[in-house]
Amino acid sequence: MKPIGGKSRLFVVIAMLLLVLAGCSGESYLSTLKPQGENGEMLYDLMMLTTILMTLVTLVVVLIFIFVSTKFRRTKKTENMIPKQIEGNHKLEITWTVIPIIILLIIAVPTVSATFKLDASEEGIPKDAIHINVTGKLYWWEFEYPDEKIVTSQDLVIPVGEKIYLKLQAGDVKHSFWIPALAGKMDTNTENPNYMWIHAYKEGVYYGKCAELCGPSHALMDFKVKVLSKDDYEKWVANMQEPSEVPAEATAKAGQEIFAKSCAGCHAVDSNDPRPAPARLAPNLSNFADRERIAGIKEMTPENLKAWVTDPESIKPGNKMSNTYNLNPDQVEAVTQYLLTLSKENK
Ligand code: CUA
Repeated sequence: MKPIGGKSRLFVVIAMLLLVLAGCSGESYLSTLKPQGENGEMLYDLMMLTTILMTLVTLVVVLIFIFVSTKFRRTKKTENMIPKQIEGNHKLEITWTVIPIIILLIIAVPTVSATFKLDASEEGIPKDAIHINVTGKLYWWEFEYPDEKIVTSQDLVIPVGEKIYLKLQAGDVKHSFWIPALAGKMDTNTENPNYMWIHAYKEGVYYGKCAELCGPSHALMDFKVKVLSKDDYEKWVANMQEPSEVPAEATAKAGQEIFAKSCAGCHAVDSNDPRPAPARLAPNLSNFADRERIAGIKEMTPENLKAWVTDPESIKPGNKMSNTYNLNPDQVEAVTQYLLTLSKENK
C-alpha cells in the first residue's frame, strides 16, 4: 500500500474533525450545546462567553506575534542594531496587567452570579415545589417522590416549565447525575447529599448519563427524563399511586407467580411499596412497560427483555441481577409477558 502523502493526510485530519464536530450537533436532547432548560441555558451562556473571550485573546496574541515577527525580522541592515529597550515602562506594564484583570472580571461576575442561582441547598427549597430523591446505584437510578409517595426508576418523570428540586445520593459507590441538555453534572455521594434543581422548557424525552467512573458498566448507566404537560404529569402521579393490577392473560399470570417467588425479594411492583430505601435493592418495576429503555440502554421489545432476563451479565457486566436466578425459557417467556403488563401510562 502506498503511504498517504502530506495533502491526503491533511484531508483525512479535516474530515475526522468535521465528523467529530457533526457529532456535537446531533441529537438535540442529548447535547449541552442545545440547552432545553433554564440552568442548561445558564451554563451554555457561560461557556459561550468564555469561548468568545478566549478566541479573542488568542486572535490578538497571534496577530501581535505575526506583526512583531515580520516587522522586526532580522535583516542584513538591522543585523547589528539593538531595538528600543522597554524594561520598566510603566504604561506598558500597567496595560498588560489591567487588561487580563478586566477579562477575568468579565468572566467572574456572571460565573459567581450563576453559581448562586444554581445553588439549591436544603433550606432554600420552596415547600410547595416538587422534590425528588435521586439515588444512583450500580448501574441504575431510583427516583423517589416523597410527597406523592411514589418510587420509580430509570425514567425520571417531571412536569414542563417548573423548577424541580432534586436531592442526590448514592446507594453504593460514587456516581454523577447528568442530564446534558437540562443541567450540569452533580456528584452523588453515599454520605452527604447534594442538591440541585432542573427546569425544562419543552415536553419530550431527554437523555441522562452517569458521569463518574463507577465500575464495568459505568458507560451503560443511562436514564431518561420524561417531561410531561402539567395535566399529564398529574394523571401520571394519580396512576402511579394506584396498586398494580393482576394480569388477565394466563401466561402473564403464571409470570406473576414466578416473579413473586424469584424476583420480588429485590424488585417491587407497586410504586408505593412500603420497603425503606436501603431495602430497595433493585429497580421498582411498577411502570416497567412504560419505560423508554430496558436496563436504561436496550430498546423496549419482548426479544430484548427476554435476552435481559435470561443473561443480564452479557448486557450490563457487573450488574447485581447477574447470576441470581436461572429461569428456563418458558419461565422467561412468562415473566416477560408479566413485566410488559406493568404500565401506568394514561389509561
Ligand atoms: Cu454510575 Cu458511572
